[in-house]
Amino acid sequence: MDPQSCQLGERPTPPYFFIPDGPVTGDVDPWLSDGWIAHCEAEVREIGGQADRRVSILRRLARRLLLGHADIPTHLAPLLPIVREMLAEKERISIADVGGGFGDNYGILRTVLGAELVDRMEYTVVDNARSIALGRRLFPDCRFVEELPEGHFDIVVVVVGTLQYIPKWQDFLHALKGKGNIVYVARSPLRKSGEGFEVKQAVCPAKGSHALEKCGIANVWVVGREELQAIFADWIPIIDKFHTSYSSEFGRLPKEKRNVAYYVAVWAKRAG
Ligand SMILES: C[S@@+](CC[C@H](N)C(=O)[O-])C[C@H]1O[C@@H](n2cnc3c(N)ncnc32)[C@H](O)[C@@H]1O
Repeated sequence: MDPQSCQLGERPTPPYFFIPDGPVTGDVDPWLSDGWIAHCEAEVREIGGQADRRVSILRRLARRLLLGHADIPTHLAPLLPIVREMLAEKERISIADVGGGFGDNYGILRTVLGAELVDRMEYTVVDNARSIALGRRLFPDCRFVEELPEGHFDIVVVVVGTLQYIPKWQDFLHALKGKGNIVYVARSPLRKSGEGFEVKQAVCPAKGSHALEKCGIANVWVVGREELQAIFADWIPIIDKFHTSYSSEFGRLPKEKRNVAYYVAVWAKRAG
């Protein structure tokens, strides 16, 4: 069943990204759906030391050697040394995690950094009402809000797995530059060359009681690498790397639009 004509609650055949061939119906906000929240609740069970038992000892050892810790995913690993370095210089640091869901990134960092360092982080997650209600229950020591608060997050701003869902992402990133000294963008599909483009995604959460069922359609903006770099031209690039090919996910799109991969990019504001 193709992801466009498939009804909510049914299981479409991947890949889930498509260019609509007519009006898209049955649209609901996937991030407020029961299916997505069930996925988040299933994710919770894998965070906080109850690591996935399916991950073999050898794989965990390899991850420990390569990434420095077995329980940190690739898209979050580059954040660890940045946070550690800042904590070595400052007594307290503040982090804003836009689109941070129920605090999964916070939960992972907390596990990896340990209580002593976590006590010195003021971590704010920005997301929708349903996700933050779940987050507040799970992580009472983290701040959850629906709108990015006034003020400056002097240390890090995190946008993990979210940039592609933000309309007018250019305006959003320009605004973020005024909110922090470091911007960290990860786990979003970036087009390696050529202009960015728009596509639809049937959101089918991987886990939980509604696993692989379509829970809504998201508008996705695939950002062009050069467009992204231009926004941060006056900042210092610290990390700029692709880490996972996304071509097969875009298998329903014309060939010239499959030059897409997940990436991690980090910029620091210039002093003065
Ligand atoms: C794939 S989830 C990623 C959640 C989390 N950051 C993670 O790493 O797992 C995408 C998140 O983006 C959020 N989101 C969607 N549209 C958004 C927008 N316009 N502004 C901020 N967040 C948005 C959703 O609510 C959802 O939590």
